[in-house]
Amino acid sequence: MQFADRLNNVETSAIRELFKLLGKPGIISFAGGFPDSAMFDVEGIREASALALSKEPGAALQYGATEGYNPLREQLALFMATKGVKNISPEGLIVTTGSQQALDLVAKTLLNPDDIALVEAPTFLATIQCFRLYGPKVLGVPIDAHGVQVDKLEAMIQQHKPKLVYIIPTFGNPSGALLTKERRLKYKTIVIEDDPYGDLYFGEAPPPSMLALSDQVPGSRDWLVHCGSLSKVLSPGLRVGWMVAPPDLLARATMCKQFSDAHTSTFAQATAAQYLLSGRMPATLNKVRSVYAERAQAMDQALQRELGDALAYTAPQGGLFFWANLTGTNGAVKDGNAFAKSAIEKGVAFVPGAPFFANDPDLSSIRLSFATADLAKIEEGITRLGQALKA
Ligand SMILES: Cc1ncc(COP(=O)(O)O)c(C=O)c1O
Repeated sequence: MQFADRLNNVETSAIRELFKLLGKPGIISFAGGFPDSAMFDVEGIREASALALSKEPGAALQYGATEGYNPLREQLALFMATKGVKNISPEGLIVTTGSQQALDLVAKTLLNPDDIALVEAPTFLATIQCFRLYGPKVLGVPIDAHGVQVDKLEAMIQQHKPKLVYIIPTFGNPSGALLTKERRLKYKTIVIEDDPYGDLYFGEAPPPSMLALSDQVPGSRDWLVHCGSLSKVLSPGLRVGWMVAPPDLLARATMCKQFSDAHTSTFAQATAAQYLLSGRMPATLNKVRSVYAERAQAMDQALQRELGDALAYTAPQGGLFFWANLTGTNGAVKDGNAFAKSAIEKGVAFVPGAPFFANDPDLSSIRLSFATADLAKIEEGITRLGQALKA
């Protein structure tokens, strides 16, 4: 069959290939990017879906507006206001089918084949692939534990005149990095702020989102796009995300969404609206924060104990991931891919970091998620990782 040329720019992810090995019995996995399904507030979502059906069954089961179900747009605007976003109205956002769709709509709306898109190196793999479908050159900008390195970003903006810059400023995937407030205030180009992890902080709250800080940067609402999601805090299966963008971009993204899925599931939207209205969200957030914080701490201690200076990392202050580099100390393995294979032999899985780079991959990097393993599994899994290192 003759497939469209645009597919030449993308390939099945190396990570998916690795996932095929995860079927081995007894494997402890730090590989996924999922939240823990044991954490879902099933009772709250059950009540919310029942209310969605009893209060507005027609709207919850009927076709709906492409922009989204208005009661949910109202709740999402209120939710963002609690996080310091000023001047946000329900009309200023559209509901998307996960934030993944928001990223696709932004790419579809803005990117031409001759364009350049700058992303963090490393960044969310699905964004690299999604952007590439539209043909631009995707280039990575180096990051450190404080997020994207602004001096390098500025130089690359000067050099490449990118159409847009994509950033996950708060507990990035895969980096776990947290962009400082100073760095958040810097940009004056089209910036896509992807923020699915901002609510998952362990101690002190992170700096406000770039959207919340936008009133400190005159004019920035004209070039800032913010993508949010209920996936990591409530349920990814609901597929409820949203996008805040300048009105002209939002109108065009809505038009593209119309041709794509017409609208996000009205039933899921009505359920999410009832959930937010029920007032259960703050308790849910506190619960997920404390469980993930405990797991992250356990992973940090176990990594130090079992891998010592064979691994270099900055412990994350939120999110779901440790991002680390194999140092190769004392002749230990330095290649993330080779280490992932020997780890699977020992019964533990994680993902090598190389696929998260748009270009020039760092082969020594790895990503470990602590989200879905309980404390005992974290202990056992990291002990196995230590054995794999010695193997
Ligand atoms: C950085 C980032 N953005 C977006 C998404 C997509 O999330 P969803 O479409 O479930 O909202 C993910 C999911 O892993 C992610 O890590």
